[in-house]
This record gives sequence, C-alpha cells and structure tokens, in this order.
Amino acid sequence: MARVRVHQHVNPLSPYFRQAPTPVDVTSAFADPAKPLLLDIGCARGRFLLRMAEAEPGWNYLGVEIREPLVEEANRLAAEAGLTNLRYEFCNAMIWLDRLLEGVPACLLQKVTVQFPDPWFKKKHAKRRMVNKELVDAVVAKLAPGGMIFIQTDIEFLAEEMFELFRANDELTEQPTETNPFPVKTERERAVEEKALQVYRTTFIKNS
Ligand SMILES: C[S@@+](CC[C@H](N)C(=O)[O-])C[C@H]1O[C@@H](n2cnc3c(N)ncnc32)[C@H](O)[C@@H]1O
Repeated sequence: MARVRVHQHVNPLSPYFRQAPTPVDVTSAFADPAKPLLLDIGCARGRFLLRMAEAEPGWNYLGVEIREPLVEEANRLAAEAGLTNLRYEFCNAMIWLDRLLEGVPACLLQKVTVQFPDPWFKKKHAKRRMVNKELVDAVVAKLAPGGMIFIQTDIEFLAEEMFELFRANDELTEQPTETNPFPVKTERERAVEEKALQVYRTTFIKNS
C-alpha cells in the first residue's frame, strides 16, 4: 500500500498545533498496561516502534508525532500487525507532552527516545525546535527513577543544544554512548548511515 503523503514540516507554533491533546489512557491503549513503557518522541511513520514492539514484546510502546496523518497510518499498521503493545498519539510534544502523559502511572515510563528531531536550522525558527525546557521537564517528571533517555542526531549544533537542555536538569546523570543501545534503527538513522554521516549520541539516567 502507498505511504501516506504529508508535508515535510509543520509549524508547531501555528494555532492548529496549539490544541491540547487528550491524555493517554494506558488501560485502553495497551492490552497489558502493567508492562514497562518506552516513549519515542517525534516518531514520524513509527517504524522504529513497530519493529521494537515485535522484537521486544515485554514492553509497551508509545509514539508521539505532530503530523496527524502519520499517526493514523501508524496506528492502522500496528492494528494490522496485531500488535496490542503499541500506540501512536498525535501531539505537539514541545507544548503538550506533560498533558499527554498526565494519566500515565508513576514508574511505568522507563525509556524515552528522541531521534533525529527536525533541526529548524535558521535562528529565526529556533523556537520551533521540539526539544525545549518544557519537553525536558515533562519527560523527567514522568520517567521512573533509573529510567533512561536516549538522544541521537546527525546535526552537531542541535546535538549540543539538546544535550545541554538535558544536562541542565539535576535529576539526570549523563552516560555518554557512541552506539545505539536498541536493536532497531529508525528510518532516519538508516538514511544517515547510508550517507556515512557522523551521528552524535548520548544517554541520561534519572537519579534514584
Ligand atoms: C527528521 S524526523 C525523524 C523521525 C524519526 N525519529 C527517525 O529518526 O526516523 C523528525 C520527526 O519529528 C516530528 N516532530 C517535529 N516537531 C515535533 C513536535 N513538536 N511534536 C511532535 N513531533 C514533532 C516531525 O514531524 C518528524 O516526523
């Protein structure tokens, strides 16, 4: 089946994307809501989580994406694959991640990934970047003690900007890594690898 066509970027500051999302209800999202949760922020077509949900079924997987048609397509593909541990949500994560996650029980969220987010290269567009202090605070507020955040990008200035935002949170301890700790690569990671571009990565652990 043809892949759904979407705009390459949407402006997260436009009124449509300022609408609040409905908080995720893990009891209706997942067949077994007690499984540990992995959250992928800016999941695009969601193929990383689709493969992870098949490879490591002992977890639940939540993908967050601002381009709504991709979310609809990804949920359809998950249903067709019979995966009951995978859900995608339409959400502008730079504004609304805390609202989306407010009903997620404490200690359930154990892994978070931010992989190759849109850089919005121009200085005048810096406010459109997904990773901001609000997103970091929302992630850290929900992450279980000992939980892990994995971040990677091929854009050096964006890596430094993101890493600094997470480093500024004193509930996190950085554990630098040169490798992806997951058995699956995102679509963007594979594209970047094919071009032999450098990838900047790090992880953070929430203090106990
Ligand atoms: C370059 S793509 C990378 C997708 C995927 N993580 C990968 O590595 O293949 C970045 C994704 O983040 C999404 N995104 C950008 N800003 C967002 C926001 N504020 N909230 C949620 N998703 C966002 C974009 O729509 C896009 O799908």
